[in-house]
Amino acid sequence: MKANYSRYYQRYSSVAPFVFLWHAILTKKLRKLSLINRQKDYLRLANNPQLLALHDSLNQHLLEGIQLWKSYDYGEGYFYQSFQKIGISGFRDTQARIETMGLPELLKDRRVLEIGSNAGFLTLSVANYCSYIIGVEPAGHLVSIAKDTAAFLGVNNCEFRNSSFEEFSSATRFDTVLSFANHSTYDGNSTQSIKVYIDHCAALLCEGGMLLFESHPPEHEGEGLKTVIEEIARNFTIECSNILQYGSFLDRNRTFIVARRN
Ligand SMILES: C[S@@+](CC[C@H](N)C(=O)[O-])C[C@H]1O[C@@H](n2cnc3c(N)ncnc32)[C@H](O)[C@@H]1O
Repeated sequence: MKANYSRYYQRYSSVAPFVFLWHAILTKKLRKLSLINRQKDYLRLANNPQLLALHDSLNQHLLEGIQLWKSYDYGEGYFYQSFQKIGISGFRDTQARIETMGLPELLKDRRVLEIGSNAGFLTLSVANYCSYIIGVEPAGHLVSIAKDTAAFLGVNNCEFRNSSFEEFSSATRFDTVLSFANHSTYDGNSTQSIKVYIDHCAALLCEGGMLLFESHPPEHEGEGLKTVIEEIARNFTIECSNILQYGSFLDRNRTFIVARRN
């Protein structure tokens, strides 16, 4: 069910939580969870006109996405990444992810590139640790969400590029590349082989630069992860590799690798 909820964000409505709940009852799986998240977040917007206005603009972009972006929607009509600061629940627990991966320390004062930055909620959550951070994301409506949120929060050491990673190039090199659930994508928008993808990551890094890699959940990745790790090991020294346990069922059991460019 892809409903238009914009009117509920233009003016707070006490009916809206019941509508979201009703729609959640009528649907299944991840879309049900996205509606439950929407309802939970909406209740926090009562008596907060500034946040309501932000959610209004972000929801307008989600709607543009439904109309114009025909690829798989990772957020199932709402948000894939959570962002506590602006009252957004997502399928992925951004804060727990950052803490469990140790990103504050790993990204401290570094020039960072994030591949497939989605709505930019992880980018914006780590921006204050970084020297600067660039997010690359092919879905234009997600880039608009990221830019509006950056403006709302006054974050100004980040940049969001509306581009695929394949088409992304940069004259300057980065200290760290974040490849989180992005070495392959289920939406059909990734065209590079794993070898070309990892070579591209290495080429964008300065000498001794770091690749931080997160896999897909094991049930999606299967045996293919071995090949990905072999490709990483061709260009990088793997400093640590862990299976992380945090957050929701969509966060847990992913492999996280910290690797240094040879
Ligand atoms: C599974 S989501 C992961 C989002 C984010 N990296 C995270 O882990 O929270 C995959 C993201 O990659 C983006 N994407 C798809 N094809 C891409 C490409 N060729 N280059 C860069 N990003 C791509 C999608 O639009 C989506 O936002």
